[in-house]
Amino acid sequence: MPATVVFGMQWGDEGKGRIVDVLAAESDVVVRYQGGANAGHTVIVGDEKYVLHILPSGVLHPGVLNVIGNGVVVDPWVLLEEVEDLRRRNVDLTGRLLVSDRAHVVLPYHKLMDRALEALRGDASLGTTSRGIGPAYADKYTRDGLRVGDLLRPDDLRPSLLRNVASRNEILRRAGMEPLDPQQVLDDALGIGKRLAPFVADTVARLHELWTGGRRLLFEGAQGFMLDVDLGTYPFVTSSSTGSNGVGPGTGLPWRAISKVLGVVKAYTTRVGSGPFPTEDVGPAGEHMGSRGREFGATTGRKRRCGWFDAVVARHAVRTQGVDAAALMKLDVLSGLDQLKVCTAYEIDGRKADAPPAGVSQWRNCRPVYETFKGWREDLSEIRRFDDLPREARTYVRFLEAQMGVPLDTISVGAERARLIRLETQGTAR
Ligand code: IMP
Repeated sequence: MPATVVFGMQWGDEGKGRIVDVLAAESDVVVRYQGGANAGHTVIVGDEKYVLHILPSGVLHPGVLNVIGNGVVVDPWVLLEEVEDLRRRNVDLTGRLLVSDRAHVVLPYHKLMDRALEALRGDASLGTTSRGIGPAYADKYTRDGLRVGDLLRPDDLRPSLLRNVASRNEILRRAGMEPLDPQQVLDDALGIGKRLAPFVADTVARLHELWTGGRRLLFEGAQGFMLDVDLGTYPFVTSSSTGSNGVGPGTGLPWRAISKVLGVVKAYTTRVGSGPFPTEDVGPAGEHMGSRGREFGATTGRKRRCGWFDAVVARHAVRTQGVDAAALMKLDVLSGLDQLKVCTAYEIDGRKADAPPAGVSQWRNCRPVYETFKGWREDLSEIRRFDDLPREARTYVRFLEAQMGVPLDTISVGAERARLIRLETQGTAR
């Protein structure tokens, strides 16, 4: 049975939620395996817009089971607010949502610590989403973390939580922030644990049953591969493994459970927050992408930085994450630009490189090597067949496909569910 991973190959916001929404209709289970409420997955159904931060995008399909795996850091307050919001909109998740008892919990002090650490970094701040992601993963790895299952066991929770609040309060005071009341944090955590209890499960065991029972699984990545803690633009990254390689540790399933890896890329590039972005365009072309593509963060509302397609970045994800096929998003946004550029390599200190560097100063010295293409003016939103795209758009897409070295199986030409060119059924673009 197919088990597909969908993950973003740039700096996030590639439109993964869209693709997962389409593929969820053909799946039995949708699983999140990393990240937390820093994600912002937008799905438009009819006139309704849903922005999901922590729930898997499969929640909008009635027959689909949604799993939050052990690799996610769960903010239970955000999670239950999303569940409530969906219930008000007549989407009932009873029996359709499982949260791993092994997933780590984002507690109020993680969010305050996120802000305090950013303030202490000063000019070198990372531009985090302030959702407590880094501090929650840090606690996991220093083994001070608390897990979802602990919220249901007061005797396990109490001593660790009180110890953690006391030590975090010292750092908050140093950053000039109000310390927390330990007893209040404990009471709130126990209270939210009671509300979360109906969803808590041993998802490792459940996922094994589902996999061996032949269910169709879909793993939904959050953020993008260049934000990967190991292989992204460190330290300007998030704190998890954002590619397909995060699935094993984040779910408890073996790598051989994965039958297909689908990488999602936008037809141009965006980035939210600080950090290297060699193909950034701060001129009229970048403005065009930002306004036509409505490039504002779904989680923080921040304006996204925009720029040209970077094949070095996409190839890095393809090579290291075993990508089988790619989905190209938001091609329609480029309509109206006279000229398009694609970065095929970098020049770093006079040397050509076709893979990304590791160091911050090397990133700063990257000069993109561009190929230039003629643009098109036509509106693409009603096109459903590759052959009906304007000639210039076909040339552009074929070039991206060849640069990435994997076949495209989907192209999106608009935000609504139907605005897709499904290439698997039409042969590839090449
Ligand atoms: P954190 O994940 O909140 O720690 O933020 C670290 C970096 O990742 C910042 O530059 C954020 O803007 C970025 N980031 C985190 N989540 C997302 C996302 O879902 N989309 C795009 N960027 C993100």
